[in-house]
Amino acid sequence: MHNPYIVNFDTRQLPHDTSQLIVIGSGIAGLYTAYCASKKGYRVLLLTKHTMVDSNTDKAQGGIAAVLGDNDSPELHYQDTLLAGAGLCDRDAVRILVNEGPQRVKELIELGARFDRVNGRLALTREGAHSRRRILHAHGDATGAEIQRALTHVVRNDPHITVLENHTAVDLLVRENTCYGVLGMSNESKQLVAFYGAAVVLATGGLGQIYKHSTNPAVATGDGIALAYRAGAEVMDMEFIQFHPTVLSLPGAPPFLISEAVRGEGAYLRNRYGDRFMPRYHSLGELAPRDVVVRAILSEMASTASEKVFLDLSHLPSDLVRERFPNISRTCAGYGLDITRDPIPVAPAAHYMMGGIKTNYYGQTSVCRLYACGETACLGVHGANRLASNSLLDGLVFGYRIVQCCRKELAEGAHGRPEFVFDRLQPPDSTINYQQIRQELQTLMGQYVGPVRTESGLQKALDHFKQMDYVGRYAIDEEQAAEVLNMLLVGQLVAQAALLRTESRGGHYRQDYPQPQDIWRKHIILRRC
Ligand code: SIN
Repeated sequence: MHNPYIVNFDTRQLPHDTSQLIVIGSGIAGLYTAYCASKKGYRVLLLTKHTMVDSNTDKAQGGIAAVLGDNDSPELHYQDTLLAGAGLCDRDAVRILVNEGPQRVKELIELGARFDRVNGRLALTREGAHSRRRILHAHGDATGAEIQRALTHVVRNDPHITVLENHTAVDLLVRENTCYGVLGMSNESKQLVAFYGAAVVLATGGLGQIYKHSTNPAVATGDGIALAYRAGAEVMDMEFIQFHPTVLSLPGAPPFLISEAVRGEGAYLRNRYGDRFMPRYHSLGELAPRDVVVRAILSEMASTASEKVFLDLSHLPSDLVRERFPNISRTCAGYGLDITRDPIPVAPAAHYMMGGIKTNYYGQTSVCRLYACGETACLGVHGANRLASNSLLDGLVFGYRIVQCCRKELAEGAHGRPEFVFDRLQPPDSTINYQQIRQELQTLMGQYVGPVRTESGLQKALDHFKQMDYVGRYAIDEEQAAEVLNMLLVGQLVAQAALLRTESRGGHYRQDYPQPQDIWRKHIILRRC
């Protein structure tokens, strides 16, 4: 049983603010939704936990998939997405993604995002499980940073959008299944503020930080899912976590993504003995679906008693490698690796959450006036396993659709400002070591709820969460404590759903149930009782 709030508060005693639309999060989904709402003339408040650029979007390397090439079609993109999704994609959602995606990407270009070009035409690359070259990229391998730069510039200079950085969204103000706003907290002053709005959009990104090894930035602590769940919204597909096969693995170095585009350009995966192993596991070799590559790597690591495998680019023209992957070349050079010559040590790490807050095709959650888009949302567009470079596209397409849907609500303005009071928690306890709880959780998730799962391991994880229940009885008074409570909640939801799903599919692999089962071609939906 979880409390609906993680602080005691009384909105009659708090400063408050009223906007038309409140957007939480400043990655591609949050920024683009805020921009679309402002373009229609609505006043938007955008809250973000750290600075505007602290997002998964900023770190995305490979690119954004969209059908803009000559010998490609939405139908092919649709088929590739369904295949990667391992039988669990919502087909209508995928149709929307592939049909509306190209127009949204063109708008992104009009807004100033500069993608790489060859002779004036967009340069398109290929990634795992794509049947065509359809991935747009920028500065070689810094696509997300370019999109983040362009959208941050647009939003910062928009007079209809107020941006509040360094503000934690603590909880949603929900009564009788209707969302009235957000309880925010300044990370500096710790002051709580009641932000009221006609509609709230959660665009808080992923939850990779619940794992010790993750490509996600420190802010990716599953906040949106935790807020929505506490507020009574349905969450779906929580068991499906995508692990990225190739993350730099060097002692002392932080996890750094080595883009799938590197394999897309022809790099080989080799084990510690130099054996190119992927053709033994899948006909697509290094470009097999990510979950297949991850398990192949784990199997090679186990059979060679090694904590890593190697990405080999030495057979590719060195000029191409340096030009195409300047960011990866520079970062690896910082560790003494010349990627045109030296094999790059890599291992899998948590990368993307396919599940999240359940929405319809317009971002509506099961709570009225509460919307979600981007990685924190789930409408089944990625099924059990996301196709590479579909995530940035998802943020654009469904962020846009939210604004189409909530226009009436926004035009009507705030629908009242009810007061909220909650006082059931014990005062903050300074003896709780939130940092230690965070680290223990990260280790536990990797051990028992990682790319390979078993009933007994998942049960151990759930026992741990039960022991941690006591933490939720104390009010939080700072951002780090809020994050840890959110991480404990979403970690528990992942483990619960993973235990329920007695089969293997996409990003969920059960060693004790290694095959997909037809009866499991369905979604697991969880809700606070
Ligand atoms: C990558 O560059 O490999 C990541 C792209 C993605 O996750 O879609």
